[in-house]
Amino acid sequence: MIEQFMDDVDFGLSQQQKSLPSKYFYNKEGDALFVKIMHLPEYYLTRSELEVFQTKSTELLNILKLSKENYFELIELGAGDGLKTKELLKVLIDENYSFGYLPVDISKNALDNLEKTLKNELPKVSVKQQQGDYFEVLDAIKNSEHQKIVLFLGSNIGNMNDEIAADFIYKLGKSFKPNDKLLLGVDLIKPESIVLPAYNDKEGVTADFNLNLLKRINKELEADFDLKNFSHAPEYSEETGIAKSYLQSDVAQNVTIKKLNKSFAFEAGEKIFTEISRKYNDEIIENIISKTDFEVSGKLTDDKGYFANYILTRK
Ligand code: AVI
Repeated sequence: MIEQFMDDVDFGLSQQQKSLPSKYFYNKEGDALFVKIMHLPEYYLTRSELEVFQTKSTELLNILKLSKENYFELIELGAGDGLKTKELLKVLIDENYSFGYLPVDISKNALDNLEKTLKNELPKVSVKQQQGDYFEVLDAIKNSEHQKIVLFLGSNIGNMNDEIAADFIYKLGKSFKPNDKLLLGVDLIKPESIVLPAYNDKEGVTADFNLNLLKRINKELEADFDLKNFSHAPEYSEETGIAKSYLQSDVAQNVTIKKLNKSFAFEAGEKIFTEISRKYNDEIIENIISKTDFEVSGKLTDDKGYFANYILTRK
């Protein structure tokens, strides 16, 4: 793990356009900051998707064409606190569907907490937590005789570029059988005046989230990034629908990373690319899905049209 982190940091900071992978945001501190982000007034994504689940779960069940007699597996990739999924679980229980809920997460702690809250709030749900890597878990349950409904929510797919996203969905599909479904939650393209504040909140939580990457490198790789000399610099283009986060070096400086035995030079104003948060429309989704074994069977959005949940069917 630490070797991979060292290699990734070394590689990223040695490029002409310096970069660091966004997956390293999520240590304990980063997880807590992301929970804070989800509650920020500017971060509309979570609320918009929650609205879809609160108001359109019945419509979703119709599109999924589930029958109450056939047991199915509801598998959630990166379940987190399950806030949105609980809305769907409530409807499934109230309507007497027969299913098992399989939340998948790398964090055992997150899964234990989710299982505990579900026991209290929705005791009728049969929870079978799956700790591990998405592909490994899906591969392990690939031959199950039951239909699979897989949830990948929160526009997590948006943290991949389109090529990687298509490859990711294609690979997921390898563990699906025909007619299994993938519910993909994505943020939609909208004006800069709405998107940019979601990645540049007034309180500075997103800035802390981004800067936490450098803090983590300081701690784990014995580096001397001076956080006062870097600032959070997000960008968004409505034309491409791509939001990007950078960490900008505010002065010319050298940073030493002891564990790598290396120093890296930064020019004043030089930026480290840290995250893509892609926004979508039907055309972009169709283009990605055309490279996979899925087809689009339906789409649900919130009232403002900020967020969409695409229902994809394995061909
Ligand atoms: C997890 N992911 C979908 C978030 C996003 O919106 O791209 C991560 C995030 N980065 C900054 N704020 C939130």
